[in-house]
Amino acid sequence: MRIVLVGPPGAGKGTQAAFLAKNLSIPHISTGDLFRANISQGTELGKQAKAFMDAGNLVPDEVTIGMAKDRMEQPDAVNGFLLDGFPRNVSQAEALDVALKADEVKLDAVLDLEVPEDEVVKRIAGRRICRKDSAHVFHVSYNQPKQEGVCDVCGGELYQREDDSEDTVRKRLEVYHTQTEPIIDYYRAQGLVRTISALGKVDEVTARAMDALKRDK
Ligand code: AP5
Ligand code: MG
Repeated sequence: MRIVLVGPPGAGKGTQAAFLAKNLSIPHISTGDLFRANISQGTELGKQAKAFMDAGNLVPDEVTIGMAKDRMEQPDAVNGFLLDGFPRNVSQAEALDVALKADEVKLDAVLDLEVPEDEVVKRIAGRRICRKDSAHVFHVSYNQPKQEGVCDVCGGELYQREDDSEDTVRKRLEVYHTQTEPIIDYYRAQGLVRTISALGKVDEVTARAMDALKRDK
């Protein structure tokens, strides 16, 4: 399957993607995680992305689209993928359509995670991620690691993301409403959108998501 996951910052996209990708045997491709890996490795791409991310703005399309396409062309993504955080504006969605058409494949679904803003704020405030791999995500109260400050998956140090400060989160939410939400209408016109509530326990949301993906519409 080829799936796009969409939802505001802190909705639980990364958390759900880990389970959905495993259940569906497809790779989880997160542009945010790819940027963070580039930043921690000190690459040129990471240097270009960092200032935009720290300010809560989108990284320019010229950088982002090429990086996402390169990742989608890796052998593990030939039969499907779960995109998390890409596309993030209508021009990225159009670029994705062009790339898929060239490969004679199509998206199967766009899973839209709905969460009220006050819940998003609580989720982001308590989030801790792993220094070694930002796809390993925890929360100080909702999803506690077995040992405080230590990643259950790989033993890495847990820390708070630089862009999770109150001011930057406010900016990221504004960017989500103005630039990212319009892709939901773009995909609705293609009959691809399945909206679910992302409230409740992590496994309850995963079950809801799997049901929605099995539905025809
Ligand atoms: P990105 O990393 O994609 O951030 P985001 O979209 O803002 O989303 P988050 O990762 O903050 O939230 P999430 O929905 O994954 O939630 P999570 O599962 O962690 O992007 C970061 C930046 O990179 C952007 O601002 C931009 O600068 C740049 N960028 C990335 N892609 C780009 C693109 N395509 N174009 C341009 N720029 C791009 O969960 C949050 C917390 O809640 C965790 O602590 C978790 O444990 C907890 N939680 C999860 N589910 C539940 C639940 N059901 N109940 C209680 N707690 C829960
Ligand atoms: Mg994420």
